[in-house]
Amino acid sequence: MRIAVGSDHRGCVIHSKVIVFLKRLGHDVVDAGTDNSEPVDYPDIAAVVAGQVSRGEVDRGILVCGTGLGMCIAANKFAGVRAAPCHDDLTAEMSRRHNDLNVLCLSSDLLGERLIDRMVELWLNTPFEGGRHARRIEEIEALERDHLPKRKC
Ligand code: RB5
Repeated sequence: MRIAVGSDHRGCVIHSKVIVFLKRLGHDVVDAGTDNSEPVDYPDIAAVVAGQVSRGEVDRGILVCGTGLGMCIAANKFAGVRAAPCHDDLTAEMSRRHNDLNVLCLSSDLLGERLIDRMVELWLNTPFEGGRHARRIEEIEALERDHLPKRKC
């Protein structure tokens, strides 16, 4: 898969480790920064990664910040983006099975590296179940169209 990865300054260490892990698994990584602890605003990074997912330039995105929450809020402003913070195996798996999550948001403050590696692999390998869940995703897309015009840029 082609996967865009970004973080703010709080997530920069995990960000680098996630990139190494993804490459080891054989994925093609697009690095949206940041690679150091100089403060950067999470919406700027989320916009780069979520924009690429929204335009179909990458298959998936991974965003890291202190809690994973700010990245998630910003990423969900983009059309077709389904971002959520996952915090264990179950949320990583179910986010794929039922929600077809295309942007995984991670907390650098709350999650250990081994857990993150496991969650990332699970999230990449778990298929969307479709069926009634696909209908619900379509309902979300209708909400986007009707109530929240989003940027495609
Ligand atoms: C940055 O201080 C922090 O607010 C950010 O990393 C994230 O936790 C926001 O949700």
